[in-house]
Order: sequence, then structure tokens, then C-alpha cells
Amino acid sequence: MILFKKANELTDYLSRQRSAGRKIGFVPTMGALHQGHLSLIERSGENKNLTVCSIFINPTQFNDPKDFQKYPITIEQDIYLLEKKGTDILFLPSDEEIYPNGTINMQHYDLGNMETILEGQYRPGHFQGVCQVMHRLLLIVEPDHLYMGQKDYQQCMVVKKLLQVTQAGIIFHTCPTVREPDGLAMSSRNTRLNETERKNATTIYETLLYLKKNLTPGDLSALLKHATFKLEEKGFKVDYVEVADAETLGFVHHWNGQQKLVALIAAFLHEVRLIDNMALNP
Ligand code: PAJ
Repeated sequence: MILFKKANELTDYLSRQRSAGRKIGFVPTMGALHQGHLSLIERSGENKNLTVCSIFINPTQFNDPKDFQKYPITIEQDIYLLEKKGTDILFLPSDEEIYPNGTINMQHYDLGNMETILEGQYRPGHFQGVCQVMHRLLLIVEPDHLYMGQKDYQQCMVVKKLLQVTQAGIIFHTCPTVREPDGLAMSSRNTRLNETERKNATTIYETLLYLKKNLTPGDLSALLKHATFKLEEKGFKVDYVEVADAETLGFVHHWNGQQKLVALIAAFLHEVRLIDNMALNP
């Protein structure tokens, strides 16, 4: 694995590889890597790409300063895991490499209702930050393929929108959520849970399964209310439990029995905010 810290050096190297006929697969991350991240690396490798992984804890996407301060950093372990997975290139930039002109007066992206619903509503500015860093990373790496996780369902939709706006001609791959044996979606933030919280955290997955199992055409409000109750009972502070159209994320509170649906949950266990989602009728 080759490590790059400078954006221009990586861009030069990749343009030589492109001239030699290599396709470039890109997996952007914020580190504290787990099997979920590694599944994206694996997928890029299977597609015979030259695989670039970036690790950059992007300050502009954290609406909660405490979350930013406490974001786990495990860089030595990350490098070990990436090498073991056969990653070709690691990009490990400084803030200055990503934001050479600072982070004031950044470009604003028109994300429509993505900014006012679900994560957009509860994490103001978050998706602007995601677009700022992704736009910059994509200009540096210029990948043919981009691999991102369904775990962050709305983020996938936002980045697809960014690709449309920037007309980058990149092929987007949404990769399935990797879970712990008890169903908890793998997340870098899981390491911040204590033993009891970790046990209770599986309630998110169980609630998604409950929604899937009990979905019937008609009014969904009683179902959603009970799902929220299941989480609160286990000590969660719920931001949202929603059922939405899988394509548009428009909320569906009355199901016609046909529309493709996804259930989405965001909830806190003390200071740790967890999100997850599940296709209800794939
Ligand atoms: P991060 O949370 O590190 O996630 C990096 C990528 O891994 C994202 O595409 C995310 O959806 C995917 N991922 C995380 N957990 C997963 C799981 N359990 N199964 C499958 N994929 C999973 O998402 C970000 O970083 C940042 O917002 C980023 C896109 C890098 C921009 O800063």
C-alpha cells in the first residue's frame, strides 16, 4: 500500500495509472475502520480497480462539536487492516490539503429537501459539509467508481445528487450494511458505548425488523408509535423513526401496499448518536 499525504502527489500518481489503463475505485472514510468499511474496499478490489481509501475526519460535517472531539482515531490499526485487505493506496491528508483556503465562505450545494428531513433536519449543515469534502476528494482522486455504504442511506442520496450536479461521470455503488452478529450495524461510534449501552443498542435493529414484519397497507402511525416506544423503553432518546419512499425519502404514513419503502432510525444512547435503516419490501 502506498501512503499519500499531499493531494497533488496523489493526483499525479493516479493520472499516470489512468494513462496505463487502470480504473480507479474510491472508498472515502473518516477512519476507525471496521468490517463495514473493509467490505467497500473488498468490493472495489473485486471490480479489479486500483483501490484508493481516504481517511479524513472532516470538521465541516460535524454539527456537534462534542461528536467531533470524541470521534475515535485508530490510525495504526486502520493502516494494518487496509494493508491486510490489499488496499492499493491510502490518502491521509491534513486539513490544509483538503481546505487550502480555510473553511469560511465555502461553496453551498442545493440539496433540496435532503437538508430539511431526517439527518438534514437533525444535523443542520451536516450534508453541506459532506458535499464540501466529497467534492474536493473527488477532484483529487477522479475515480471511475465510488463505493459507499447503505448504512448511511441519506448520505448515499446526497452524494448521488452531488455527482449529478458536478457531472463527474462516476459510477456509484451502494454497498449493503455490515452488521455485528447480534444485528447492530457496524459503526465507528459503537466503540463509545459502554457494556450496557452496547447490549441495548441492538434494539435499533430489532425495531427495524419489527417494522418490516408488521408492515401492512393502510395507516402506519400506530406502528411507528410502537416502534418509538420500543426504543425509548431501552433508554434511547429518539430523533426519528420514519418510514419513507425508498427512492425519494418522502415520508409514507399511509401505505398503498405497492410503494417501495425504507425504514430509518436515528437515536441517542446518552451522548452517542446511532443511525440505521432497512428496506421494508425489497
Ligand atoms: P464513515 O462514517 O467513516 O463511513 C465511510 C463509508 O463507510 C461510508 O460510505 C459509510 O456508509 C460506510 N459504512 C459505515 N458503516 C458501514 C457498515 N456497517 N456497513 C457498510 N458500510 C458502512 O461516511 C463517512 O465516513 C463520511 O461522511 C464521508 C463520506 C467519508 C465524508 O467525510
